[in-house]
Amino acid sequence: MNPVAATKMSGLLLRQLSQRVLSTSACRGLVAETSANLRHVGSVGGVRYKSTQATDAAQEEKGESSKAISSYWGIAPPKITKEDGSAWKWNCFRPWEAYTADVSIDVEKHHKPNNMMDKFAYWTVQTLKIPVGLFFQRRHMCHAMLLETVAAVPGMVGGMLLHCKSLRRFEHSGGWIKALLEEAENERMHLMTFCEIAQPAWYERAIVFAVQGAFFNAYFVAYVVSPKLAHRIVGYLEEEAVISYTEFLKDLDNGSFENRPAPAIAIDYWRLPPDSTLRDVIVVIRADEAHHRDLNHYASDIQCQGHELKEAPAPIGYH
Ligand SMILES: [Fe+2]
Ligand SMILES: [Fe+2]
Repeated sequence: MNPVAATKMSGLLLRQLSQRVLSTSACRGLVAETSANLRHVGSVGGVRYKSTQATDAAQEEKGESSKAISSYWGIAPPKITKEDGSAWKWNCFRPWEAYTADVSIDVEKHHKPNNMMDKFAYWTVQTLKIPVGLFFQRRHMCHAMLLETVAAVPGMVGGMLLHCKSLRRFEHSGGWIKALLEEAENERMHLMTFCEIAQPAWYERAIVFAVQGAFFNAYFVAYVVSPKLAHRIVGYLEEEAVISYTEFLKDLDNGSFENRPAPAIAIDYWRLPPDSTLRDVIVVIRADEAHHRDLNHYASDIQCQGHELKEAPAPIGYH
């Protein structure tokens, strides 16, 4: 390839990358306020986030444009309303997917590593925790948002691999495909909630891009080689998630992190009261993480006891 063509191609690639990967258009309308790593948007004192308002505007805009889409295939956008008759504004989830979180969790629950595999899983997570802790320190929002981008991967990878296994072997999955995909979706909703509050800086987006590439492939290989190890690692990751959200709650309670109104998406997803705050949202997210912890340790235990996952009915809707 001649140098001119090579220069043109690399320029094109860079432009595409900056538009697609590091684009800030995912949560449109957000306003950068500070030069801190994570730029918070919105305000306190009862006013909803600008991001939520922006989402409303984006939804309306989308609604306008969707009217113009040809319905040759007979598919029309569904008209969904809330219980109070107002329009349902989220396309990423529907009212019947919303739920009330079971917050009666044991935050201290821990699986004691009792064999080589458990110890390997435990120390893998403890080792990964060190650079993560050094990087984020007490920047809870940034920590939570970036780690949710990782947390939403294992359920999707595990669900996809079990799906393929079910097809290959002509057999049922015991509901585990659904349970794991639900976990992935639940984690992604955690991320969508944090997106309503804050926006990552460009270099944090770059970190997510790199980490996702490495983590997806590493977890894929781990799940193919040893699903029980993969589930045990996620169990320990979720234990750490519970701990880090507990720290977040402590800082909200002692005033070192400012509490604020809950984003509208969180109120609808977890069926929270309209006057809920960020603290209420963190409480329900921590409960979800505790349930992911239990589900993944349980999945590992089933296999450690010599059974296949399909032999035990999956806890569908357990989040
Ligand atoms: Fe999460
Ligand atoms: Fe989780």
